[in-house]
Amino acid sequence: MAPKAPLRLGGVVRPPGDKSISHRVLMLAALARGKSELSGLLTGDDVKSTARVLRQLGADISPIREGVVLVSSAPLTAHRAPLNCGNSGTSARLMLGILAGQRFAATLTGDASLRRRPMRRVTEPLKQMGADINERGDGLPLTIHGGRLRGLTYASPVASAQVKSAILFAALTGGVAVTIREPYRSRDHTERLFAYLGFDIHDRDGAIVFEPPIRPSAHPPINLSVPGDISSAAFLVAAAVLADGGELLIENVGVNPTRTGFIVVLERMGAHVERVNLRDEGGEPVADLVVRPAALKGTEVSAAEIPTLVDEVPMLAVLASRATGETVFREVGELRVKESNRLELMADNLRAVGAKAEVQGNDLHVEGNQSAPRGKVETAKDHRLAMAFAVLGTVEGADVKLSERKSVAISYPGFFDDLGKTGARRTAHGAR
Ligand code: S3P
Repeated sequence: MAPKAPLRLGGVVRPPGDKSISHRVLMLAALARGKSELSGLLTGDDVKSTARVLRQLGADISPIREGVVLVSSAPLTAHRAPLNCGNSGTSARLMLGILAGQRFAATLTGDASLRRRPMRRVTEPLKQMGADINERGDGLPLTIHGGRLRGLTYASPVASAQVKSAILFAALTGGVAVTIREPYRSRDHTERLFAYLGFDIHDRDGAIVFEPPIRPSAHPPINLSVPGDISSAAFLVAAAVLADGGELLIENVGVNPTRTGFIVVLERMGAHVERVNLRDEGGEPVADLVVRPAALKGTEVSAAEIPTLVDEVPMLAVLASRATGETVFREVGELRVKESNRLELMADNLRAVGAKAEVQGNDLHVEGNQSAPRGKVETAKDHRLAMAFAVLGTVEGADVKLSERKSVAISYPGFFDDLGKTGARRTAHGAR
């Protein structure tokens, strides 16, 4: 193959709306009284799953597209057919919280990947609050019959924003107080949105305390613009860091400190991600990011850092494979129960393209090298694996073949177009 010219990335890109915030504002708008106007929502399949389920329960939601989405709420009502959450763990787990406070039964299901994912971490506390849940194993499908709930003080065994948020949504719809502790602080978008709506939610000695309004779910409509998703921006940041020259401006990125672990770790590895034009959008900090290429060195990512970058481990592990020395991700067992078994697949796929990677217990070890990555990657239809290895495919001399690339539509429908806009090489091929 002829040697390629040095790659200079450049231009301006805007990542799609934050997935976590999009789910939450849609749900809260459906629970409000009146007409909400939401802009900047992610138009990916996961958010469409949340919209579909809310519509099945009676909410009137205009098509999920770029620009303004209107939500006219009405009290949620029973739907006879199963509510299909598609590939979306956030839809399933947060909806369980909402359904726990309703006086009707509903069955939740999802695609093959979602049906394999654990739900007991959510059903357990919801049962303690008084929800009646009929489950066959630790997963979907399951039937929940909500109703009169009681308050809960809960120490979550996992640092999961989905578990925490399910409990908070149950408290809101059931009109009961909750106190939640988690081993490490997970993303706090639900807490920020609740505070933005004027609810009484605060920190007491490291625990989250929520005392809902007396008349549950009677909050006013929401007019809010969703910031860009740092988890999607991470792929663009990585492409810029791996380039040979140039500078990329990534606009409108949410930089909530419970989500910025990717930047923190990347800077420790030797890159610099400049945050400019810092502002606030609906209670969330937002900035534009300026990124340039950098030589990376290995690092250790601690267990406490993992919740702040949990969705960015695939991209960080790929970056670690281009660094000098070893990178260790501590206590990443949770990655086994994401959209795929990301822990094993990351190690397998890195090895498949010629890097050294190994899972030891719940830790992931990656040894960097500078040789051209070549080989076939099994994405297991996991959007973040597809995007992480597509970015690896942009380095000089790479020949990375993805088993599929359609899965990017889950969280970043315009990913390949945006990556192309930066001037990145398109060497990661694969079926569309
Ligand atoms: C999310 C929380 C995280 C994350 C997921 C979105 C959320 O999952 O991996 O993509 O919106 O609350 P866990 O809470 O299970 O860690």
